Amino acid sequence: MSTTEDDLSREALLRSCAAVRALSAALTEGLDPEDQALQSMPDASPTKWHLAHTSWFFEALVLVPHAAGYRAFDERYFELFNSYYESLGPRHPRPMRGLLSRPTLAEVWRYRRHVDEALRQFVQSAGASTWAAAAPVLRLGLQHEQQHQELMLTDLKHAFSLNPLRPAWRPATAPARAPAGPSPVQWRPQAGGLVALGHAGGGFAFDNELPRHPVWLAPYALATRLVSCGEYLDFMRDGGYRRPELWLSDGWAMVQAQGWRAPAYWLFDEPGAPGDPAPSQVFTLHGPQPFDPQAPVCHLSAYEAAACAAWAGARLPTEGELEHALAGTDAPDLRYDPGWMQPCQPGAAPAGEAWQWTRSAYAPYPGFRPLPGPAAEYNGKFMVNQLVLRGGSCATSPGHARPSYRNFFPPAARWQFSGLRLARDAA
Ligand SMILES: [Fe+2]
Repeated sequence: MSTTEDDLSREALLRSCAAVRALSAALTEGLDPEDQALQSMPDASPTKWHLAHTSWFFEALVLVPHAAGYRAFDERYFELFNSYYESLGPRHPRPMRGLLSRPTLAEVWRYRRHVDEALRQFVQSAGASTWAAAAPVLRLGLQHEQQHQELMLTDLKHAFSLNPLRPAWRPATAPARAPAGPSPVQWRPQAGGLVALGHAGGGFAFDNELPRHPVWLAPYALATRLVSCGEYLDFMRDGGYRRPELWLSDGWAMVQAQGWRAPAYWLFDEPGAPGDPAPSQVFTLHGPQPFDPQAPVCHLSAYEAAACAAWAGARLPTEGELEHALAGTDAPDLRYDPGWMQPCQPGAAPAGEAWQWTRSAYAPYPGFRPLPGPAAEYNGKFMVNQLVLRGGSCATSPGHARPSYRNFFPPAARWQFSGLRLARDAA
């Protein structure tokens, strides 16, 4: 989906709507209804819920307030598929989404088609002033669905990883990787200074990317690629998970409490001494696959990323440093291959193939203003106790990310495609 000013035209939004909604459907191909009902932890949601919730967003924020005479598919869904919008009424408890055998998957698809048809009619018939008010919210709904497309994949991966049968989302094709493997890490010096951060205008941005504002960056250097699995294995073999001096206090507590000894989804033949020998396999959306030391390491918590960076004599970048470095590139050129939904090319794209943890707290930019109406709850109220991730991942929907994009998760989260790029202060 392109992100230009033209996106607010009726024709462009209809095309985008068809493309985005079709990708959600494509991501479910090959899954059985039982797969799509799984909820493996409170942070993750069933595929079926994602399909319904993204439709609810259009219904609750576009159709109900703007489409005269709109008839809801089922009034009860307003509670069932509201995620966290206090202003839009009660919600079904998040940890209980996996208990919803009803509506069935077939009913959820009827719900989606009902919303699709209502949106189509609304876009074609809305008066000018109504359209002017609704179009930005409709575009927000498309970006919202793209965010959930990545969550559909990461949530399903987590659920499948807990099944001893090790199911696959779909078969793997060979990863497209440069035959020479990753180049040695090089350090690219950045002068820093007074730079502008935040979305520069032209096309869509979430409210959390605004306003563009000046930031002072001390001179720094950024690694030219992401840390690889092989390099992370070196950290583990050097006692990375046994050396408290490398860890943030909260991170060390998590290591003890959770028994972390390796990134999530690494599979070892010999329990007890993770790291030596290397894992034989990694669990992926294509089931277990051979461990690839050249691939970017991912499914790290921010704590693990920070400890590995400390071990390497480096640190996590700030979000300002990463945005400044990425801003010189066009929109992140991320590979999106349903045949290999797993990071494999550490240096292929400036944005990388795994989200990059930063050391920056997810906080409002100076002058931040939430969106009007219910969408005010979209980002601003989550701006505490989380860290920003930058770039994008192999599972980020095409056209969704940009250099000013701010992803965010609690530092202990490991089920996203989260990796790291090293930074350090200029010598
Ligand atoms: Fe949502």
